[in-house]
Amino acid sequence: MSAAWWQEGVFYQVYPRSFQDTDGDGVGDLAGVEARLDHLVDLGVDALWLSPIYPSPMVDFGYDVADHCDVDPCCGTLADFDRLLAAAHGKGLRVVLDFVPNHTSDRHAWFVESKSSRTSPKRDWYIWRDAAPGGGPPNNWISDFGGSAWEWDAPTGQYYLHAFLKEQPDLDWRNPDVRRAMYDVLRFWLARGVDGFRIDVLWHILKAEGLPDNPPNPDYRPSMGEMSRVLQTQSTDQPEVHVIAAEMRRIADTYGERVLIGELYLPLDRLMTYYGPGLSGVHLPFNFQLLEAPWNARTIEAIIREYEAALPPGAWPNWVLGNHDRPRVAERVGEAQARVAAMMLLTLRGTPTLYYGDELAIGRVEIPPERVRDPREHREPGLGLGRDPVRTPMAWDATPHAAFTTGAPWLPLHDDWRERNVALQRSAAGSPLSLHRSLLALRRAHPALAVGDIAIVDASGDILAYERRSGTDRLLVALNLGDAPAELTLPAWAHHARPLLSTLEGDAEPAGARLVLRPDEGRVLAPGAPAT
Ligand code: GLC
Repeated sequence: MSAAWWQEGVFYQVYPRSFQDTDGDGVGDLAGVEARLDHLVDLGVDALWLSPIYPSPMVDFGYDVADHCDVDPCCGTLADFDRLLAAAHGKGLRVVLDFVPNHTSDRHAWFVESKSSRTSPKRDWYIWRDAAPGGGPPNNWISDFGGSAWEWDAPTGQYYLHAFLKEQPDLDWRNPDVRRAMYDVLRFWLARGVDGFRIDVLWHILKAEGLPDNPPNPDYRPSMGEMSRVLQTQSTDQPEVHVIAAEMRRIADTYGERVLIGELYLPLDRLMTYYGPGLSGVHLPFNFQLLEAPWNARTIEAIIREYEAALPPGAWPNWVLGNHDRPRVAERVGEAQARVAAMMLLTLRGTPTLYYGDELAIGRVEIPPERVRDPREHREPGLGLGRDPVRTPMAWDATPHAAFTTGAPWLPLHDDWRERNVALQRSAAGSPLSLHRSLLALRRAHPALAVGDIAIVDASGDILAYERRSGTDRLLVALNLGDAPAELTLPAWAHHARPLLSTLEGDAEPAGARLVLRPDEGRVLAPGAPAT
């Protein structure tokens, strides 16, 4: 059976506000993404996922959608989108949009109507409830951004539910009219030619019938943010959500080979259920384990083993190192290990998703307090939950504002953008960008990497090693997650293997029956005759 494009391909997430501005307002736009498509081609990825581009008051920077079937003026127009899509397809790139089903903006026409009176025909498109008998919110649910998940609406005398900001009221997915309307949104974009969707907070869209309280979280510490006071067992991840996922899947499937990727922050056993019975759910339930894992070879080996073992028959794996909500990989593990992490991401079995800027190894960006834009940070300041640091403008070259904009960028760039930018790294052999290009080229050249099997190779200490194999194509990946030299006893088939790619430059010791990795080194090797 031949692999689908979303199985052998590599995704690249673009945060449109920060990729490329073309009209000087300091905010990226679709014409900018189009102008930079060659970067993605040159890098060697196959598909881009665009975070939301729809009309929005931008209270949650596009995740508060005011109209699902149009483009926000700051991003451009529908015509710009069509041009971008055609240009991307012309270059062999697929385009995936962000679909935000759980909530809308409070300015969406549906919510404006719903809020207008208790008897509005759209009242039951959202989740309205009377106050609790003694007064106060209907239950103890907490918004993911802190505070009660309920907002009082004085004119109609009821509360409405919002899992995120009060400007993001939750839709009621138990209402068939809501489902129909949202499925029409999918059809609108699929008919325009988009190649699929990343589905925002998929595990949130259905709540337990009767909206019972969430149980308290015994492990809660204030540093986790207020949402962690309770366990979201009643407000999220309800069994009936799989019926909805399957409905979305059926719609996508009627348009040919399209992909659905679910955003799901859930434990492994729960995550796996989103493949759906008989693989009727989303194609790729996002696997975020590497975003949170301690950077330790034995822990990550266990994660890979458990994830592979938990996959339902026929389910396709995927891996993620960064996104617009979580700290950047180079900040989490440091720049030296970020190279090892890139090799891991691009050689594990399954579809990788790269986050823009990680190919430059952008690290921690300090956002001065007066420049904080993210409501997550404003609502619970100082806990490190704010997401501005990972949403800063892309750096293209060493000209003013790194050629991101001719105006004033909406967020500051990383401090070292004059040295850390695409133009400089493009021509520097040992740069993070060059490493990513080499890894992606290797992945393209080797079916073992793109679609092959994986088997963990016995290793200890800081080394993580695995074999990838497809037919006669057989490779060994050995990663040193530590900063001291480390040794691996090679399996017999890999004795005298020749190095195909190292994360480090310079001469590495040739492998015999053993392989010595330098500090912070990852290597891909292919079996071959010993050097004479
Ligand atoms: C998802 C998005 C995040 C957004 C939230 C609410 O988690 O990734 O950026 O704030 O949903 O839509």
